[in-house]
Amino acid sequence: MKSWYLLVLLVSGAQTLCVTIESVPGVGVDGTIQTELERTVSLVCRPGSAPDLPPREGWEEEEELVWLRNGAVVSLKAGNQKGSSSVCVTPIIHGDNGATFTCHLRRNASIQASVTLNVTYPPTLSGSEEVSVEEASPLVLRCDVFANPPVMSPLWTLNGSVVDLSAGGFTVTNDGFVSQLSASSAERSLHEGRYQCTADSPVYGAKTRVFQVTVTDKTTKFPLVPIIAGVVVVCLTGLFAIISRWSRITKVARHTCCK
Ligand SMILES: *[C@@H]1O[C@H](CO)[C@@H](O)[C@H](O)[C@H]1NC(C)=O
Ligand SMILES: *[C@@H]1O[C@H](CO)[C@@H](O)[C@H](O)[C@H]1NC(C)=O
Ligand SMILES: *[C@@H]1O[C@H](CO)[C@@H](O)[C@H](O)[C@H]1NC(C)=O
Repeated sequence: MKSWYLLVLLVSGAQTLCVTIESVPGVGVDGTIQTELERTVSLVCRPGSAPDLPPREGWEEEEELVWLRNGAVVSLKAGNQKGSSSVCVTPIIHGDNGATFTCHLRRNASIQASVTLNVTYPPTLSGSEEVSVEEASPLVLRCDVFANPPVMSPLWTLNGSVVDLSAGGFTVTNDGFVSQLSASSAERSLHEGRYQCTADSPVYGAKTRVFQVTVTDKTTKFPLVPIIAGVVVVCLTGLFAIISRWSRITKVARHTCCK
């Protein structure tokens, strides 16, 4: 697994100055490093001649190096700047996907090399969920489709057949993060059953989540809001009565004290 590759990005005309980035895991020909969440990527930058050119004498040891992440300077410890400089990215998170690391000589920023991280991850689709929805209430099922490489729209099935959107009055939306299957008014004959959402990742294969949907009888809702409003009014009235009387009592008390 641990392979080292050499990336040479700049060899200038007369002077064969350049910097090279070595990486674990290795760098592909397009300058990208393939990795996954939770992993570690370690990068080492060295000033040096291209490997197929004659080596230069000694200057490399004195060169100071600068690392940038997406154009912003990475702060390095004092001993990690001269001669060679390393950066470790661990653990890899979603936000590292597409991040570009550039190393250049401090004295000349145009002598530089770059690598870009490609963090792959599957959509987090697994397991099963019991969903209970009341007759005539909205039914909403959601599937995570956030993945790299991106997945196509997931396939929604009901009792093993592709969901018939028009027959069930369903709508499907997908914003690249969540695919949502919804029906505005649940009906037992149309909507009860076993739903599956399946997304196919070119790297991680098919991922599926199951929803076991039950449509329950409509219960007549207790008119809670008007009751709460009524209770609040009664309490406030009582409170004002107490406050006004209390202020009268305290006034009386103060008069008595000050005499
Ligand atoms: C930086 O390096 C480039 C490429 O070798 C060269 O053309 C340029 O003159 C250098 N700039 C300075 C300030 O040394
Ligand atoms: C990242 O890697 C995946 C899997 O190899 C590939 O399909 C995708 O095109 C790569 N993305 C970039 C930006 O290189
Ligand atoms: C799905 O299957 C269940 C169990 O066999 C059944 O009760 C339900 O009516 C079916 N749903 C639909 C929409 O056909």
